[in-house]
Amino acid sequence: MPQAGGNRWYSEPIRLAKFVTGGVNCWKESPWQGLYKTLLTWEKGRSPAILFDLFFFHRRVSTDQISAIISNDNLTVLENAGILSFSNGEVRSMVRCYPAGNMYFICDPSRDQSDFIYIGWDSDLMVDIAAKYCRGRRFSRLLDLCTGSGVQGLSLSRHSEEAFCADINPRALAMVQANARLNKLKTIQTVHSDLFSNVSGRFDCITANTPYVPHPVGAQLPIGGGDTGIEFTIRLLRELPDRLTDNGISIIYTSDPIVHGKRELIAQVTDELGQLPYRVILIPLFTNNYPMTRAMQEHYDRLNLSGYDDCILIIERGKKYTVEQHQHDSLHYYRTRMDAWLDWRRRAHRS
Ligand SMILES: C[S@@+](CC[C@H](N)C(=O)[O-])C[C@H]1O[C@@H](n2cnc3c(N)ncnc32)[C@H](O)[C@@H]1O
Repeated sequence: MPQAGGNRWYSEPIRLAKFVTGGVNCWKESPWQGLYKTLLTWEKGRSPAILFDLFFFHRRVSTDQISAIISNDNLTVLENAGILSFSNGEVRSMVRCYPAGNMYFICDPSRDQSDFIYIGWDSDLMVDIAAKYCRGRRFSRLLDLCTGSGVQGLSLSRHSEEAFCADINPRALAMVQANARLNKLKTIQTVHSDLFSNVSGRFDCITANTPYVPHPVGAQLPIGGGDTGIEFTIRLLRELPDRLTDNGISIIYTSDPIVHGKRELIAQVTDELGQLPYRVILIPLFTNNYPMTRAMQEHYDRLNLSGYDDCILIIERGKKYTVEQHQHDSLHYYRTRMDAWLDWRRRAHRS
């Protein structure tokens, strides 16, 4: 259900058409959330909208409303587990619950703590794209680096005999264990590791939704990927050939920074892997606007950075080094690219 926000009006017909034809999870932003809530309630009754309010949007819901949906025994279990908190005739959830693929995942409801665990639109897109590129494959060993809530590793774990989820943040590993229990997965192993430092051996599938946002080095952000955003990904690529089996596949969510007006990612990937027999597929997803805060504007200007694309890299063995581009939702990609360009023009005009 789209969240209230400031997205441009001309996106709305496309989003609405997607919603009514498949009820897609298009939560990101919409100025017309009430419309979607009414449609959802009309089609499925009041319960889903109340549960979305409580577990997805992190809103307070009246105890009467929730008691009509969840039995008192189950409410007591959730309260004792620290998931629900009751006061003054209202209840709120201490976790966000996010549906992705055909599973549910819990994560933090806000970004207040520096070690927050989130599931975002990037996570959601990556689950779908990873499922597409792994369809029909079986793995012996799967590794999800930068696992966070474990959403990528757990979603693909049914393809693999062993599944390892690794993160530098210990809270993430606890969240992965909780999500494995929630989805009745028994064979998930968690590893506390800075990139590959604590994991051994090779893997048939390596996924990583990396920290990829351009941010000054040293910033304490679980999503900050370095100065231009791809420094972390390049570190990962440097070690990848020693960690991927010959038939292996790697799926990496990262950014493609626009420096001096040119997209940089593929040139840097080629610097790292160009001498090796790999097939690299670039899937551009959407373009981000120039940042809003003064500090980030200064950071961007210092690097001649005008924005970045969110994208996914698929890397597997080939006969020689090749690069190709696949589309995921080209209409969406070019619409956001146009938005970013209009935004950039408007700013240039003002300054
Ligand atoms: C963009 S989030 C992705 C989370 C999750 N995989 C998803 O798809 O929603 C990046 C994750 O990378 C982790 N991370 C950051 N630096 C790391 C490092 N040096 N080694 C391993 N994990 C790291 C963060 O703790 C965070 O959980």
